[in-house]
Amino acid sequence: MRIAMTGAGYVGLVSGACLADFGHEVVCIDHDPAKIAALEAGRMPIFEPGLDALVADNVRQGRLSFRTELREAVAQADAVFIAVGTPSRRGDGFADLSYVYEAAREIAGALSGYTVVVTKSTVPVGTGDEVERIIREANPAADFAVVSNPEFLREGAAIGDFKRPDRIVVGTEDARAEAVMREVYRPLYLNAAPILVTGRRTAELTKYAANAFLAAKITFINEMADLCEAVGADVQAVARGIGLDKRIGGKFLHAGPGYGGSCFPKDTLALAKTAQDAGTPLRLVETVVAVNDQRKRAMARKVVRACGGSVRGKTIALLGLTFKPDTDDMRDAPSLAITAGLQDAGASVRAYDPEGIEQARPLLPGVTFAEDIYSCAEGADALVIVTEWNAFRALDLDRLRTAMRGAVLVDLRNIYDPAIAAQHGFAYQGIGRGQGD
Ligand code: UGA
Repeated sequence: MRIAMTGAGYVGLVSGACLADFGHEVVCIDHDPAKIAALEAGRMPIFEPGLDALVADNVRQGRLSFRTELREAVAQADAVFIAVGTPSRRGDGFADLSYVYEAAREIAGALSGYTVVVTKSTVPVGTGDEVERIIREANPAADFAVVSNPEFLREGAAIGDFKRPDRIVVGTEDARAEAVMREVYRPLYLNAAPILVTGRRTAELTKYAANAFLAAKITFINEMADLCEAVGADVQAVARGIGLDKRIGGKFLHAGPGYGGSCFPKDTLALAKTAQDAGTPLRLVETVVAVNDQRKRAMARKVVRACGGSVRGKTIALLGLTFKPDTDDMRDAPSLAITAGLQDAGASVRAYDPEGIEQARPLLPGVTFAEDIYSCAEGADALVIVTEWNAFRALDLDRLRTAMRGAVLVDLRNIYDPAIAAQHGFAYQGIGRGQGD
């Protein structure tokens, strides 16, 4: 299959590289010449484990290439993917679809022969209809179908998620388009990944429903964690106790500082807006959004309480700034609200992150960035684990304790055993671990 991937951002690049790795001929197109030049030189615009090697290998094999201009690649393609950004629109939280529609207009003018146009970007219900209308209007003679094929990739684990998906969702009622999509994903469903063919609107909604459900699951366990702290119970054990029930499942039950990233915050807001517009408000999702927003700010207050009620004049060391490990993505990261809260309360904040410092620097004014974990802790009154990078899981607690001025360890990801932290002289605070506060 010949595939054109418009948008060489996170989703486009990972999907393009993986599809090339299946043996398809893929051209990734992006309007940003600097990005394309960097990719051609083997430099990735994002940090994603394994991506540089996968890209390099497929470029070498001649299956993956990069362009700034889409005309030729689209004209030759069996399938054209739209994988451009859909940020939250300022003001109402609805997804900004201008990049998607712009891509559709450009694609329209270049179509030649029967082509499947696939929306991979996360787009609200009904966007496929509009993409189809735009293409039809711009090129009435074009022979094409518009398909929804949402992605379920987690940052930091995106290549594995693409190659070993739980399911592939394809939204189309066009038999020819379905056949093309089955061919695109043949290497996967031969490996037993179920392929679900649904209506286009159903596929669009499935993506939002999945993210909203996962966001709700996290928010549920986060609120349970607060209750555990208040009544002297352990949220880790509660999560395990409910997660072993197969109807609930153990994943996405890690209590923490609130979800962040480029997907859950944006998609829950957009879904709530779609539902309001449709006259069927999703009160549960609206509450999840509000509870999660409040939670990020509440984490700074938790640190202040752990420091005895005041952080004025104190130095707080933060370990981990990105919204999750194995990414350099700072979008909606809890560290942003936590830092602001601590600074407002009069603390100096020092921070370390294995990959995110360059992205974090402009977003965290007034923060001092450390070169490594132990220099971050040097002379600090409290150490706060914000993101559970593997490098933070087996710290030398004695060395840390000696380097620090204070002995407060706030573990917002529950990666330490409270008893062991106490043995090393720390006043330990986790999330939902029954100590009250
Ligand atoms: C999420 C979904 O997991 C993917 O399936 C989806 O494709 C993607 O959004 C998207 O829409 O593009 P991602 O945002 O990369 O992926 O990362 P997650 O691993 O889902 O984590 C999201 C946030 O939830 C992080 O801040 C993480 O720390 C938090 N989280 C996750 C928890 O607090 N507890 C958990 O148990 C799991």
